[in-house]
Amino acid sequence: MNKRLVSGMRSTGKLHIGHYKGALENWLKLQDEYDCFYFVADWHALTTKYMDLADLQNDILEMLADWLALGLDPLKTTIFKQSSVPQHAELALLLSFITPLSWLERCPTYKEQLKELSNKEISTLGFLGYPVLQTADIIMYNASYVPVGEDQQPHVELSREIVRRFNYLYANETFVEPQTLLTQTPRLIGVDGRKMSKSYNNSIYLSDSEPEITAKVRQMVTDPSRIKVSDPGHPEVCSVFYLHEIFNTEEVDEIKSHCKAGKIGCVACKKKLVKVLVEQFAEVKEKREDFLKNPSYLQDVLAQGSTQASKIAAETLEKVRNVMKV
Ligand code: TRP
Ligand code: SF4
Repeated sequence: MNKRLVSGMRSTGKLHIGHYKGALENWLKLQDEYDCFYFVADWHALTTKYMDLADLQNDILEMLADWLALGLDPLKTTIFKQSSVPQHAELALLLSFITPLSWLERCPTYKEQLKELSNKEISTLGFLGYPVLQTADIIMYNASYVPVGEDQQPHVELSREIVRRFNYLYANETFVEPQTLLTQTPRLIGVDGRKMSKSYNNSIYLSDSEPEITAKVRQMVTDPSRIKVSDPGHPEVCSVFYLHEIFNTEEVDEIKSHCKAGKIGCVACKKKLVKVLVEQFAEVKEKREDFLKNPSYLQDVLAQGSTQASKIAAETLEKVRNVMKV
């Protein structure tokens, strides 16, 4: 049997091209090699969005439509929704008894988010316990691997610590220590030069139309030292070039040398980027729209996946309850 792998994504709605490069591209490759469990982390979304529920249900469907449009295949992998498998909450509760507060308080993502999201009231038990719930997500399926980006590494490390503590306290080898399968692409830069993130309003979405992409790429800052087309450019400081490197591997070398030699203007260079992005995601965009026209199909996918996941989750909880004598 294939090795088991788990990964989730908070349901924050439609995906941007950074989600694709940073996660989905990797998930797609892995679905042929592993027994994959991919889930919508709607409870994790609540840790920072509990005060604003209007889009929650729609966000789940938008994200799932993107997953399927990109090629996640419900016949090959188990695709489900966290909140439909309530054992995740029960396991998280049981793990919370053995997790020292200090481990959670020193988690770098926790400290960083508290500062960054200072406009939101997230000094909550749920937010502090985020990595405990994430640990439950992973060990529920006794997954050996967790494909995530670098930013999630501290969480997986915490999961390993919690597993070690559980095995040590109760029964050796109840759970395997999960390992990170690191995604290669680092976080993408958004159209304003900061990291691409929904909350910064600087993202290019898989659902964007050609005019939308054009408008976004137009506002991107290029090499500021270039005034005339014939001025030699410095592609290494240009965020348009950075996206060419990732999405336009065919033309990137030529663009680099032409830019350095002052043989291509930024307007033309941006046009090339728009063309590549539009072409690369045209089919995905069409498919996601089709999926969204059929929400009952999307619900079916989640329901079936959740049934499959629940079977394993029930077995895990039986084991854990036995071990913890409750
Ligand atoms: N914390 C992850 C993120 O923000 C989402 C997540 C929740 C997850 N549970 C998980 C990822 C379990 C991997 C495994 O992207
Ligand atoms: Fe950037 Fe392209 Fe302009 Fe060079 S030509 S500075 S790579 S946008």
